[in-house]
Amino acid sequence: MRALIAALFLTAIAASVSAADSATATNRYEFRKEHSRDGIGKFYMGREIAHVMGHQAADWLERPERDEEEHTGKLVAQLPIKPGDIVADIGAGTGYFSRRLAAKTGATGTVLAVDIQPEMLELLTNQMAQAGIRNVKPVLGTITDPKLPPASVDLALMVDVYHEFDHPWEMMEAITRSLKPGGRVVFVEFRGEDPAVPIKLLHKMTVAQVRKEMSALPLEWIETIAVLPRQHIIVFRKSAATKTPASP
Ligand SMILES: C[S@@+](CC[C@H](N)C(=O)[O-])C[C@H]1O[C@@H](n2cnc3c(N)ncnc32)[C@H](O)[C@@H]1O
Repeated sequence: MRALIAALFLTAIAASVSAADSATATNRYEFRKEHSRDGIGKFYMGREIAHVMGHQAADWLERPERDEEEHTGKLVAQLPIKPGDIVADIGAGTGYFSRRLAAKTGATGTVLAVDIQPEMLELLTNQMAQAGIRNVKPVLGTITDPKLPPASVDLALMVDVYHEFDHPWEMMEAITRSLKPGGRVVFVEFRGEDPAVPIKLLHKMTVAQVRKEMSALPLEWIETIAVLPRQHIIVFRKSAATKTPASP
């Protein structure tokens, strides 16, 4: 009898904890009827989330003038990656950066190329086959989960991706869990502070907004590298004493 009462008590606690969790998850995002046509009407910490770039526009990611416009070679050179590292390219698209990251990790390392669009991963797989690259592994994620193994990643890179995450908190919580202790997260976002950068407002981010959103997670800001003509490189490290992520 005593065991039955204890079991009922524990079930009641579990139910109230999970109700509290889902209430927090519901409150995390705000939905507004009046919003930008470039966004989905869902707001996180005051920022409207942008539409996902569809695979129909994949050619834009591979445009020949990309390096000249964005200095992508310089970007890759800034990343603290060494041979043998496990790197996650989140929102990898056609694999433009995965290919370059694969050269940095070398054959002893791996690039986990995550995307939510199977069509993008198919293009990426074809690109890797053409280039004879074998250390890039495509990973089909979901809008809440990049499907990465825990405590396994040295560096997670997101180039022009974070602003279109449908569930930014859930994604970043999962990405943080996938990092090794001291692992890094690198955001590359078009500069929201700079009206001269010719990109739609919702597809840019300010450093202040990225730092505000990451303050809800066990990540510490390391530096913002300002060497690119249009984008910030914003670097965080997984905190040594991993605190439980705060629910905004
Ligand atoms: C603008 S493209 C950038 C692609 C690549 N990073 C590049 O710079 O070449 C954004 C990509 O992020 C992907 N994406 C959006 N939300 C995602 C999510 N929650 N998880 C993984 N990928 C996501 C999209 O499917 C798209 O392929």
